[in-house]
Amino acid sequence: MIRAAITGIGGYLPEGILTNKDMEELVDTSEEWIITRTGIQKRHILKDPDKANSDMVVGAIQNLLSRKNIDVEEIDMIIVGTVTADYPFPDTANLVAHKIGAKNAFGYDINAACSGFIYSLVTASKFIETGTYKKILVVGSDQMSSIINYKDRTTCILFGDGAGVVLLEPNEEGPGVQDSILRAEGAGWEYLHMKGGGSKNPASAETIANDWHYVYQEGKTVFKAAVKGMSESIHDLLVRNNLTHEDIDWMVPHQANKRILSSVANYVGIDMDKVLINIEKYGNTTAGTIPLCLWDYESKFKKGDKIILTAFGGGFTWGSILLEWAY
Ligand code: UT7
Repeated sequence: MIRAAITGIGGYLPEGILTNKDMEELVDTSEEWIITRTGIQKRHILKDPDKANSDMVVGAIQNLLSRKNIDVEEIDMIIVGTVTADYPFPDTANLVAHKIGAKNAFGYDINAACSGFIYSLVTASKFIETGTYKKILVVGSDQMSSIINYKDRTTCILFGDGAGVVLLEPNEEGPGVQDSILRAEGAGWEYLHMKGGGSKNPASAETIANDWHYVYQEGKTVFKAAVKGMSESIHDLLVRNNLTHEDIDWMVPHQANKRILSSVANYVGIDMDKVLINIEKYGNTTAGTIPLCLWDYESKFKKGDKIILTAFGGGFTWGSILLEWAY
């Protein structure tokens, strides 16, 4: 049986930094409120006006390729999980393939908000498991600063920019993606969305005046739905695979709020020292959080480790993946 195994990781964070002190200058907030309510200390921001999301993706892929001895022309496919594509079309994946010289690759973007990386990873794993492709780059990347209203204290303190990527390859010895549960509930759209710029509300003077080109979120509702969605999908995944929380070596969750992560760990029964957290450094980078967390903690993983990836985001979209580490 062929499984899709992660065999390499890369990451990219733009140089610009917004600290909680900087936030105090922008909106009516405090360093103490941000840290205690979210766990965030700072975020990276792409400030160069000549650069966009695809440049962060290229940075992450170059980081991966520099650590793996492979020729970029061996890449078959690139999937980019993102809600901040450079353009409404063409997809970021197309621009990236051109920029890195991946002449034999095709690809596309997947828009599943904060679940973009897990949706992309499951999609890519099917192309590997069926023997269709041998090397797929799965990216999660968002330039949230391009859609954040830095006058709205309820959202601007949360988000940052960043890109992470994994290389997926076939493995016939067991490790790789073991199982996954992905879910969606479109009724949740009203609690987390960006209203302007699509076919429903094309850009106009009115959409700009209404702040419809920025992220809108009802935090409390999303918080509760996130805890429920992530917890239940992990629980169902464990039961379906005859596992308990004790069999899990690491949980790598989407980083939206440190309090969400401890609530999920508590519900599922996973010790907090198995929950990998880096939200303090990057904030919520939407599709970027999980691959950036894998990148940061790569040295902790051992071959055979059982890892749960879990996410929840706009849509609503959510789900969990059971992974066995391959190296
Ligand atoms: O990644 C996609 C999924 N997204 C998430 O999972 C995010 C989920 N939501 C959250 O993380 C939290 O709901 C927030 C961090 C957004 C907000 O935290 P909260 O504990 O739910 O706060 P709240 O919205 O209930 O607001 C509590 C108070 C309010 O004041 P009053 O009405 O009690 O006087 C807010 O106006 O905190 C106020 N507040 C702030 N105060 C200082 C809201 N934002 C801020 C702020 N600084 N930045």
